[in-house]
Amino acid sequence: MTRRALVEGVGHYLPERIVPNSEFEKTLDTSDEWIRSRSGIERRHFAADDETTSDLAMHAARAALDSAGLAPDDVDGIIVATSTPDLTFPSVATMLQQKLGMTRGFAFDLQAVCAGFVYALSTANAMILSDQAERLLVIGAETFSRIMDWTDRSTCVLFGDGAGAVVLGPGEGDGSAADRGILSSDLNSDGRYLDMLYVDGGVSTTGTAGKLRMQGNPLFRQAVEKLTTTADAALGKIGLTGQDIDWIVPHQANIRIIQGTAKKMEVPLDRVILTVQDHGNTSAASIPLALSVGVAEGRIKPGDLVLTEAIGGGLAWGSVVLRW
Ligand code: UT7
Repeated sequence: MTRRALVEGVGHYLPERIVPNSEFEKTLDTSDEWIRSRSGIERRHFAADDETTSDLAMHAARAALDSAGLAPDDVDGIIVATSTPDLTFPSVATMLQQKLGMTRGFAFDLQAVCAGFVYALSTANAMILSDQAERLLVIGAETFSRIMDWTDRSTCVLFGDGAGAVVLGPGEGDGSAADRGILSSDLNSDGRYLDMLYVDGGVSTTGTAGKLRMQGNPLFRQAVEKLTTTADAALGKIGLTGQDIDWIVPHQANIRIIQGTAKKMEVPLDRVILTVQDHGNTSAASIPLALSVGVAEGRIKPGDLVLTEAIGGGLAWGSVVLRW
């Protein structure tokens, strides 16, 4: 028998305020047409002024725990993937422990920007397989609206706020790719590309949170190639190819990146969960949001083979293959 980390529950939360593309036409030299055609984004959610990343994470965590039929103290730990924490420290994850009333276990944040959730899933899987925990809450939560330069039309129209969560618990299989649970992962980063996507402030530099800066076009060109390579690597480890995938659940940065990656993998677009039109780019939250939407819509079902893949600042990128 082989130990496996199974998805036991999933949930998400989006802030109430929905901002359509037309809002940006009032203050910037941009148009709904440009944003839709270049990115696929139609609207995004922005957190209220008094709503923080840990608040979004709390709602998503509760939804995931409810769907698993579990209470906060049933989990051994929390991993929150975020680049937009409430405070420099303590972690969003420990704030979440407090908000959920969790009195045991451990909690920490993990930062790999848009690839954060893939990194967190891979880390959680390793902890479960090595017996450091039996059951973990894995969350992607972001308030990217707080690091936008509202005068920069090339970035501020692209991002949104939200949170998604999964509960991973113990399972068993025969060690084959037919098992349910996390089957393989592939993680990468390359610091030579730091300038492509970064925030121009921080604790030990400016002492401020800073604003997001991105060279969109060069990053776009890196994205399709690196996402296809990491997806092939994770699938190859378990002897599978794109033909075996039921659902690609990609990081939702740009519909054209998603289409390009699916095409290279020879996976038709009707087997890709798309939320970019409604959520924009929510960084580490985008994959768990899309997983949760895919399940809520009755598309992702038990036994389906799911590929998650993401790339973002660093550059950091990777993929996780799991059977739902
Ligand atoms: O989540 C992390 C990973 N992020 C990504 O992977 C994002 C990757 N990049 C992208 O998604 C795309 O590169 C963008 C959506 C950011 C931009 O699309 P693009 O097709 O690469 O456009 P571009 O940057 O080459 O810009 C084309 C034109 C430029 O004008 P000129 O120089 O051709 O006159 C821009 O100034 O579009 C202009 N532009 C805009 N026009 C209207 C840039 N932003 C806007 C805007 N409205 N909001």
